[in-house]
Amino acid sequence: MSSQAGSENENNGEHLPTVREGEDGGGVAVEERDPFANPGLPPHEPRKQDIDERAAKRSERTVSLLFTVSMLATVAFIAAFVAIDVDEIVYIFPLGHVSALNFALGVTLGIALFTIGAGAIHWSRTLMSDVEVIQERHPIAATEETEAISKADWRQGTEESAIGSRKIIRRTMLGALTLVPLAGVVLLRDLGPLPGTKLRETLWAKGKLLINMNTDEPLRPEDITVGSLSFAKPEGLKEGDHSFNNEIAKAALMLVRIHPGDIKDRKSADWGHEGILAYSKICTHVGCPVSLYEQQTHHVLCPCHQSTFDLSDGARVLFGPAGHPLPQLRITVNDEGYLYALGDFDEPVGPSFWERG
Ligand code: FES
Repeated sequence: MSSQAGSENENNGEHLPTVREGEDGGGVAVEERDPFANPGLPPHEPRKQDIDERAAKRSERTVSLLFTVSMLATVAFIAAFVAIDVDEIVYIFPLGHVSALNFALGVTLGIALFTIGAGAIHWSRTLMSDVEVIQERHPIAATEETEAISKADWRQGTEESAIGSRKIIRRTMLGALTLVPLAGVVLLRDLGPLPGTKLRETLWAKGKLLINMNTDEPLRPEDITVGSLSFAKPEGLKEGDHSFNNEIAKAALMLVRIHPGDIKDRKSADWGHEGILAYSKICTHVGCPVSLYEQQTHHVLCPCHQSTFDLSDGARVLFGPAGHPLPQLRITVNDEGYLYALGDFDEPVGPSFWERG
């Protein structure tokens, strides 16, 4: 009978067989598994360090070596901070010219933190106990009794502190607590002096020659061929100068030569020389160097977020997140046949900023 089915597994177990009615009226035992049964923990396997004291000693030495390296790196960090001049520039392959202080601080602090982490991980994996234990979960809400005691304690505390009756203390305390975060806000001023007009100006000025970034030689029109992209910096700016990185980040120039008939923007053509156009190399999105040039279309692409500019049409934005065209520099040729600038860019280069006019 069906009332008999399941009567055996109601008793007490997860894996007890169920009895169902067979075709001939007799009972048939069917194995029924609990899909949510707790599989339990696998048997504990000792590690090499648990059974071999020499292996454990080796791990101990490795961990202490990592912590010692961390200590030395921290000392080196402090020494670098004191000893290295903030303006010192070094050449490091493959990074190029970088601040010696930043490089030293980054490397030493990186080593100090990495070796602490590596030491802790090695310690826990090889020497700390790895026996798995089960911790039962408990409800985290407080019992009613604990809640009542806490509330009573809070009431007693506020009465004893007299915060309710001493109004002047309460008000001045709230005033002090409200004002004290302002100290942190004021410290934000230490983030540095305001940039002033620095974001609007570059080293380009009337009469400055265009210097080839690769050869360090002044550029002539015949150096710029149709279909190529050349890069230039202002005369007088030398790699290795203290201010080189800051200045080239604004003044980097990209030169392209286009058949005059292919230039769509009249003003752009007038600002160039015989089809040679000079644009800022700094992307107007967030300032990456633009460099991927497509000769047939005269499109140039920023590798960071794929903003695409049309150099034959005033560097108009064709695609991507850049907000405005690449600024163009007015150029011409002097009596000796060298290209030079007719002034600075007529608008700030690079990304937008809030005071941009
Ligand atoms: S920096 Fe050029 S597209 Fe974002």
